[in-house]
Amino acid sequence: MAGIYIHIPFCKKACHYCDFHFSTSLKNKETLVDAICSEIRVRQDYLENKKLSTIYFGGGTPSLLTSTELDKIISTIKENFEIIPGAEITLEANPDDLTPEKTKELKESGINRLSIGIQSFFDDDLERMNRSHNANQAIQAVQNAQSNGINNISIDLIYGLPNLTREKWLHNLQQAFQLNVPHLSAYCLTIEEGTAFNHFLHIGKITLPSEPETIEQFELLMSETTKHGFIHYEISNFCKEGKQSRHNSSYWTNEYYLGIGPSAHSYNGISRQFNVANNAKYIKRINTGAPDMEIEMLTPANKFNEYIMTRLRTIWGINPAFISEQFGKATLTTFLSGAEPYLASGSLQWQQDNLILTQKGKLLADKIASDLFV
Ligand SMILES: C[S@@+](CC[C@H](N)C(=O)[O-])C[C@H]1O[C@@H](n2cnc3c(N)ncnc32)[C@H](O)[C@@H]1O
Repeated sequence: MAGIYIHIPFCKKACHYCDFHFSTSLKNKETLVDAICSEIRVRQDYLENKKLSTIYFGGGTPSLLTSTELDKIISTIKENFEIIPGAEITLEANPDDLTPEKTKELKESGINRLSIGIQSFFDDDLERMNRSHNANQAIQAVQNAQSNGINNISIDLIYGLPNLTREKWLHNLQQAFQLNVPHLSAYCLTIEEGTAFNHFLHIGKITLPSEPETIEQFELLMSETTKHGFIHYEISNFCKEGKQSRHNSSYWTNEYYLGIGPSAHSYNGISRQFNVANNAKYIKRINTGAPDMEIEMLTPANKFNEYIMTRLRTIWGINPAFISEQFGKATLTTFLSGAEPYLASGSLQWQQDNLILTQKGKLLADKIASDLFV
């Protein structure tokens, strides 16, 4: 089984925190959709005839595609790959695009899961982030999707935001629960180089919550989601039983995926490929039949570190027998001695045969992972 990721590199506005690849000029959208279809055809051998169990439209803002553009991409995928019955087909959407008509069209195109970028249910926060929607539109978007029969919905929220208090964060979580969505992605704000927030922070235009306040928001997130029956299945991801993102889970469980579109990356067990993060260059090279990409061959150390990094963040944890089998007994010995202090301090624990993070360990996930790297 395998997955396809399609990157749609367009947004109406640039969010002040975001450093993903996108353009706010939509004038090349149609040409880029054609280039995406060409790349799907050119790279149809990549997944070695594995059947697709997931398709994920990410961005950027894929809800900016017209239904003609979306249908064109989906039919090109169908012409070149076999899709299993019941495959998960997700589209990232912005609330201001999700009118009743749009959600109906998305359902007709075959989209059966929406990941809606809400970030906050407060208008002042949304303005500060330069979002293209308000809080009311966010609520309406979820309800429009549900009324048109798309109930498999995830919403994105961000904590650690400037001016975000415990009370506001609690309100955001309660609003999410009230909307009855089965999946929540909650990210801690990262200040990325080159973003407006990075600049605002340097000139003192924004201030961030202190580290203890941000930790308190993460702890509140964990306790409130547990109270409402969500499973914390990855550091930033929470779902009702059986409702995890099948697509993202496949990234964390070592499945192959093909990434199409500017800046998308692909993985086939032996290498990673990174498409050029520039729309004009991407289009130009696709027209020559040879996509513009960098290839990184994965060394055993890369593979081991990726396994640690991804699995440690999940509910499935790290399996020592797998390490021994894939990377050898010496690597296992080094790993176990690195894990020992974290077991002793209560940051790691055994869950049957796997090592997983405790609640305390979840606060230190990145540090623990880097200490366990070879
Ligand atoms: C790149 S966006 C695309 C989805 C959609 N177009 C939107 O704007 O909501 C994917 C998600 O990444 C998260 N994100 C992006 N940059 C982030 C940052 N610097 N810190 C925390 N979360 C971030 C946001 O929650 C966002 O919804």
